[in-house]
Amino acid sequence: SKLSQLAFARNYSRKDFAFVFDIDGVLIRGKDPIAAATPALELLNEHRVPYILMTNGGGVSEKAKADHIAKIVGVPISPWQIVQSHTPLRTLANDRKHNRVLCIGGVGDAVRHVAKSYGFEDVVLPIDIVKAIPSISPHHMFKQDDFDKYAIDIDVNVPFRAILVFNDPRDMSTDVQIVQDLLNSQDGVLGTKRKRRRLEDPAIPIVFSNSDVYYSNEYSLPRFGQGAFRIITEELYSHINQLRPHEAMSSLLCGKPFKLQYDFAHHVLIDWREMLITNKFEQPKYPLLGTAPTASPFKNIYMVGDNPASDIQGANDHGWESVLLRTGVYADEDLSSLEAQPTAGVFNDVYDAVLEILRVNK
Ligand code: G3P
Ligand code: MG
Repeated sequence: SKLSQLAFARNYSRKDFAFVFDIDGVLIRGKDPIAAATPALELLNEHRVPYILMTNGGGVSEKAKADHIAKIVGVPISPWQIVQSHTPLRTLANDRKHNRVLCIGGVGDAVRHVAKSYGFEDVVLPIDIVKAIPSISPHHMFKQDDFDKYAIDIDVNVPFRAILVFNDPRDMSTDVQIVQDLLNSQDGVLGTKRKRRRLEDPAIPIVFSNSDVYYSNEYSLPRFGQGAFRIITEELYSHINQLRPHEAMSSLLCGKPFKLQYDFAHHVLIDWREMLITNKFEQPKYPLLGTAPTASPFKNIYMVGDNPASDIQGANDHGWESVLLRTGVYADEDLSSLEAQPTAGVFNDVYDAVLEILRVNK
């Protein structure tokens, strides 16, 4: 809205540092805000320091995510400030090779709308396949109401060109089955089985948008994330294909901690700063997948996260500063045994971290 653009316009900045915040375990836990998030973001708005949010979550549009976080935290957030695990996948949509895609994860048919908005044309969900061929997943959990609401009628003979795991599976048993069917099919056709085994390359490419084995919600212990589905998928694929111990299923990985995601977020952060300066809030030109910005106005980018294996590891690997919080996944771990040590320290919460970093950058 005009009003929230005005609010952003005030925040324009020519500062040479910026923040990238993780979402789950930093700003929110499940449906609840983390109390420190509101004053932290307000303080940055006041000091005109640019920031974006980079989450390994997703399953909805960037606009829906921005509105959701803004509502919980009570601070305006623009869709152009959001990088979800699958946001970079929009750059693959023009690739004709990815014509019919199977999209995994998310609630109802939400990811169909997301994939279509990214430009994918023939977007199929497991529920569409189960509706057409119920025996493909004998223990599926879909109700008639789900089929009525979310499924579309498809020609099941059209080959699939890729599998895109957008978000955590909801009916894990169906997703496990159908994904393996396609990975081991003859050229992506359902109901076929390729003859050759021991191949590290599956029959069609699979993209995992998030490799977090754990994430933090309202529960007292970390919960399994999409990374758990990746492990199951890889293990089953190795088993079916009799791969040797040093062999592994090949896949494309995005999300934190991978370079691809940090490069993409860096572009988004630069674009966001530009929007704040010019006061023009339009869809930015998204970069080619895997290209780092050639020049950056930022001397330091602070990645503030709760998950050492993704947030901190990625920041350290790709030249950003890293800040670890005690409000999420990390809470129960021992700092000295961490492989990825935060370069800018460990803090109780996001407000403490922001205060200190503003002080250091005065
Ligand atoms: O499912 C989401 C989770 O894996 C991570 O979310 O915001 O902590 O990167 P976030
Ligand atoms: Mg997190």
